[in-house]
Amino acid sequence: MTPASDDLDAFARALIGSRFSVSPKRLRAPGPSAEQLQAIVEAAGTAPDHRDLRPWRLLRIAPHRRGALADLFEAALLERDPAAGAAERAEARAKAHRAPELLLAVVRLAPPHDDVVEHERYVTLGAALMALLLAAHAMGFGGMLTSGRALRSPAFARGLGLAPDERPVCFVSLGTPSDVRRRPRPSASDLLAEWVPDPQG
Ligand SMILES: Cc1cc2nc3c(=O)[nH]c(=O)nc-3n(C[C@H](O)[C@H](O)[C@H](O)COP(=O)(O)O)c2cc1C
Repeated sequence: MTPASDDLDAFARALIGSRFSVSPKRLRAPGPSAEQLQAIVEAAGTAPDHRDLRPWRLLRIAPHRRGALADLFEAALLERDPAAGAAERAEARAKAHRAPELLLAVVRLAPPHDDVVEHERYVTLGAALMALLLAAHAMGFGGMLTSGRALRSPAFARGLGLAPDERPVCFVSLGTPSDVRRRPRPSASDLLAEWVPDPQG
């Protein structure tokens, strides 16, 4: 192995091994600059993508649009619970205002492709989001993927301007971590097994 690949190996392990999600409540300003965000999004664009369908996109919710997003969160809450009280409504609205940078990850399910089944599109988006989180982490930013029941509301998706063949998968919050909570990671033996052919088969 060449010294250059040793360096890359050590760097990659340190980068990947030190990434932990940071809750939107613990993300402070500053978020990524426009230039940094561009680099972070381009990292996401390196995801494996069967037949280059590019089956996903990111929708940025700029700071001055957070009030409009809060309206959508509140409407989605009232849609599933018309009796929701003031505290629940305020909590729903607060989700729109937490992180300095907020993106919505959207998967596109059409047009269908004979070689690419639907779940492959989600695999591509997942890989893109991991690359995005790692790129943000390498720049010193924390991030977290969050979903929630509002994302299952067709009215919420329409309010975000999504096309009928698009699904909102999760929000991506980015910012400067005020606190990092590390979690234990599974070991390889938890994740990897050797295939043994069935002697009956
Ligand atoms: C698509 C997706 C949506 C998620 N939504 C939520 C969520 O709404 N709330 C939450 O606490 N964690 C959610 N998570 C989990 C966190 O993003 C994160 O992966 C988890 O807290 C583990 O943190 P780690 O990345 O440090 O291992 C979601 C994960 C994914 C992949």
